[in-house]
Amino acid sequence: MKENQPHGGTLVSRMDACHPENQAVYEVELDDMALSDLELIATGGYSPLTGFLNERDYQSVVNEMRLSNGIAWSIPITLPVTKEAIRRINIGDSVKLVKNKIVYGVLTVTDLYMPDKLQEAVNVYGTADPHHPGVKKLFERPNVYMGGRVMMIRRPEREKFGRFYLDPKETRQLFKKQGWNTVVGFQTRNPVHRAHEYIQKSALEIVDGLLLHPLVGQTKSDDIPADVRMESYEALLERYYPKDRVCLAVFPAAMRYAGPREAIFHALVRKNYGCTHFIVGRDHAGVGSYYGTYDAQHIFSRFTKEELGIEPLFFEHCFYCKICGHMGSLKTCPHGKEDHVHLSGTKVREMLRNGQKPPKEFTRPEVSDVLIKGMKKQTAEEVSPKR
Ligand code: ADX
Repeated sequence: MKENQPHGGTLVSRMDACHPENQAVYEVELDDMALSDLELIATGGYSPLTGFLNERDYQSVVNEMRLSNGIAWSIPITLPVTKEAIRRINIGDSVKLVKNKIVYGVLTVTDLYMPDKLQEAVNVYGTADPHHPGVKKLFERPNVYMGGRVMMIRRPEREKFGRFYLDPKETRQLFKKQGWNTVVGFQTRNPVHRAHEYIQKSALEIVDGLLLHPLVGQTKSDDIPADVRMESYEALLERYYPKDRVCLAVFPAAMRYAGPREAIFHALVRKNYGCTHFIVGRDHAGVGSYYGTYDAQHIFSRFTKEELGIEPLFFEHCFYCKICGHMGSLKTCPHGKEDHVHLSGTKVREMLRNGQKPPKEFTRPEVSDVLIKGMKKQTAEEVSPKR
């Protein structure tokens, strides 16, 4: 079987449980995003990155969508730190990477630099609007970036999704065991609705396997929580997907909502997990109306096939057509808008919150059941939070 090469040629591993942490004197506090980035660097999900970006790579990624050695990379993976935190830290020092008093890794400092966040916002997110959730987050994080190679010495505790945490090495092994030569990756931060199912299955018609790879890192507060989504994916797979053709695993990254640039990033990372193909539908990783419906597809033309090394599969906006009696898009369905079942994400969430099932042409009833139950529980917890 021909295995798809990781990005940059080698699957990075920066994990060493025995690494001495005591040589590092000073500590740097990680936020949720930085901790998930550390883990994805360490497991090779972000190959060829071996640490948080140094200034040269950062400038190159922000301006050229490439690392300084020319390798395609579209999202700056940075470690923001406060001025106070670095007062006594010098280039060449080792620092402990800490969250809630737990040391997760060590970083050897090569760079400390002040980013131009306005430029980062405009280039990466296509806007400096502070209402954009990715831009908001960018500006909320501290103002100095620390660059350098990392070693992860401890993984975060897994309270949830234990058996669905598969590292790139493990998904690659699994694909091999299944005898899949070609695997399509599917990114989502939402429950799987009929349109998602349709494009996944259309893709599966031409490849051997599907990696359903929901993002479970930090998302904005009105997105459906990852644990509720996971239960809904299991319910859907159980009833509607062939077991020997699908792998469900979680993608622990934080969501950036960077639209086109994030689509490239999502594709490259799934290549590291062993995928040969990657689905990009309408407004991939978008939010609000910041991006054009197909901007996340157009951006792929800025790279050659060889430098990406994973084949994007583009899909038009899909919907259920009542006349056709099945799913389609404007490419395959001749009927008018009035015959199509369209619902906004906001409307669907509102229905679910009210205990109402969206039409079965939009969401499978088994999925709606899980989502309604999950939303109810969430509302109850919001009213009387656990101490
Ligand atoms: S996100 O991670 O890209 O923000 P989302 O769940 O909205 O998650 O979409 C997952 C994938 O399905 C993306 O590639 C997106 O473009 C695609 N997609 C979502 N809805 C549709 C649709 N109705 N038609 C075609 N593609 C869609």
